[in-house]
Amino acid sequence: MRLAIIGNGRMGRAVAELAEERGHIVQALIGREENTAGAALTRERLGGVEAAIEFTRPDAVVTNLERLIDAGIPTVTGTTGWSAELPRIARLVEARGGSLLHAANFSIGVHLFLRAARELAARFTGRAEFEAFILEEHHTAKRDAPSGTAIALRSEAREADPARDFPITSVRAGSIPGTHVLTYDGPHETVALSHVARSRRGFAAGALAAAEWLPGRAGVHDFESMLFGGDR
Ligand SMILES: NC(=O)c1ccc[n+]([C@@H]2O[C@H](COP(=O)([O-])OP(=O)(O)OC[C@H]3O[C@@H](n4cnc5c(N)ncnc54)[C@H](OP(=O)(O)O)[C@@H]3O)[C@@H](O)[C@H]2O)c1
Repeated sequence: MRLAIIGNGRMGRAVAELAEERGHIVQALIGREENTAGAALTRERLGGVEAAIEFTRPDAVVTNLERLIDAGIPTVTGTTGWSAELPRIARLVEARGGSLLHAANFSIGVHLFLRAARELAARFTGRAEFEAFILEEHHTAKRDAPSGTAIALRSEAREADPARDFPITSVRAGSIPGTHVLTYDGPHETVALSHVARSRRGFAAGALAAAEWLPGRAGVHDFESMLFGGDR
């Protein structure tokens, strides 16, 4: 497949490396310098590209998506911190007949973890002697807090047990690639369900799988619907 990768940071580079290992062609790897206000994302520059993978920053992603959708490129984005703009972007995708897949977390393990968390939360419903909370830890350079995955974890848990709040604590330190823990602490025991990402390659593999899946599928999709279809 011919790919464009938008964002030449940690994730963009991890995706480019894996894409080449898997025999894809990285036609463009676009960094910030050449892409002020999405200037590099034109039909001319992206001619022949079958899908774009976008990993930039919360302050750049929305303009990039607008430009990519206008250019008619099926787009996968993993950038976090822009969910308030999703309804507007979804209307644009609809209006242009485009394809977009977004996910705050492209690890398959995390999506299975979210399902297990929902099940755990359902089991603890009504057990007032246990207090529930979420801890998420990431490297110092991660800008948004709480993480998009922690927010997804809280909403899964709240859906199963609306009576609880599931407060989130965020830690930003060192080089931690990403850790999420849902804990129930009772007077005599602790139950914890955790997911620990060991490297960025898991996220890169998920984003690449999404780029392979997306072309020909109009509309806005998330990684859950790609992995599990309509099965909740
Ligand atoms: N969905 C997932 O599975 C997943 C996994 C990991 C990370 N993330 C998210 O993905 C995003 C990127 O993470 P990262 O670790 O790769 O961050 P990063 O290392 O800071 O990389 C972001 C890159 O985007 C560049 N950039 C900024 N504006 C741009 C523009 N308009 N056009 C092109 N490039 C631009 C930055 O350039 P400068 O440094 O020059 O500004 C930087 O190189 C973050 O939102 C992070 O939370 C998601």
